[in-house]
Amino acid sequence: MASASERKPWDSSNLRKYCLNFEEIPRLPFDDPRVDELISSNPVIIEGSNLVKSATDKWNLEYIERHMGVTTNTVYLSRNHKFKYFDDKKIQSRTNPRGVEFSPPMRKVEMKVEEFMKKLREWKRGDERLYMQQSLTAAVGPNIVQDFVGFNWKWINAKQKTHCWGKLTSNLLYVSMEGNVTPCHYDEQENFFAQVYGYKRCILFSPDQFQCMYPYPVHHPHDRQSMVDLERPDHTRFPRFKDAKGVEAVIGPGDVLYIPIYWWHHIESLMRLGPTITINFWYKAGPTTIEYPLKDHQKVSIMRNIEKMLLEVLQDPREVGPLLRNMVLGRFDENPLA
Ligand code: OGA
Ligand code: ZN
Repeated sequence: MASASERKPWDSSNLRKYCLNFEEIPRLPFDDPRVDELISSNPVIIEGSNLVKSATDKWNLEYIERHMGVTTNTVYLSRNHKFKYFDDKKIQSRTNPRGVEFSPPMRKVEMKVEEFMKKLREWKRGDERLYMQQSLTAAVGPNIVQDFVGFNWKWINAKQKTHCWGKLTSNLLYVSMEGNVTPCHYDEQENFFAQVYGYKRCILFSPDQFQCMYPYPVHHPHDRQSMVDLERPDHTRFPRFKDAKGVEAVIGPGDVLYIPIYWWHHIESLMRLGPTITINFWYKAGPTTIEYPLKDHQKVSIMRNIEKMLLEVLQDPREVGPLLRNMVLGRFDENPLA
C-alpha cells in the first residue's frame, strides 16, 4: 500500500528550476505536540486539521463559478507567469513627489466570476495570465458563506489563543492558473495558508535572511518584495542571495501551511497540473513583548520604522540611502567598546 506521500501526483517536472537548494518544511499531524512548538518561530505543514474541509470536499472551479455570487472580484492580469504585488498608494504619493517612473508588472481589474472562468477556459499561450485574489466577505453567495461557517473555527481559534495572536483580519481566496508564481515577499501578519484544490509549492526564508533577500526600500511600490528574481538572480547586484537558506514544501488539498509573520515566501502553482484554490487566514501579530536578544523579525520591524522616520524628515526618498551610508561607513566596523 503506497503511503500518502508516494501517491503524490507531481514530480520534479512540475516544479520550476532555481539555482538554490532548499530543505524540507516539517510536516506533522494536527495533534502532534510539536506543532505548537514550531508555530510562532518556524513554518510547519499541518495535516488533518480539517480547517477548510467544508471547502476541500466540494470546491473546484465549477463550484466557485456557481456560488461565488453576483459581485465583482479582484483579478490580476500578467504578461508572464509572475504576479509581483505592488502598492498603488506608493506610486504617486508624497513619498514619490516627482512621480519617479514605475511600470506596474501586472494589471488589477474587477471581474464577475463568470467572466474570469470564461477567460480561464478560453486561455491560450500568449494571452495574459489571470490570478483571482478576492477577499471573502458577506457578499459571496450563500453556499460559500455556509462552507465558510463550516470551517474548523474551533481548532483555528484555539491556535490563535495559544499563540496570543491578534484578530483575524481577512481571508483571501486565491484562484490560480497552473504555473502562476507569487514572487518572494513577506507580510506583516501571521498566516495559516490552507490549500483547497490543486498543488502549490511554497519556498520560505526566515527573517534572519534579510541581508540575502534585498527587499525594496519601504517607500517603493514593491515594499516587502525581494528585488531578486529567483529564476534569474542578478549575482552582481545581489551577491549574497546565493547564500540564502530557504525551506520548501509542496502542499495539496487539506494541508495547512503556517507562514510565520515576516517570513519571506515565494508561491507557485505547479506547472501542468491544473488550477489551484487556496484560502489564507491572516492574523494581526500578538502584543509585542520586548525580551533580549530581540528576534530577527523584531529587528526587521525596527529597520522599517527607521526607514519610515528618515523618509518623513528628509521628505525625498533619494536622500534616505546616502544618509544611511554616511552614518554607517567607516564608523561601525570596529568593536564598539574598543
Ligand atoms: C499569502 C500569499 C500568494 C499566493 O497568502 O500571503 O502571499 O500565490 N499568497 O498564494
Ligand atoms: Zn504573502
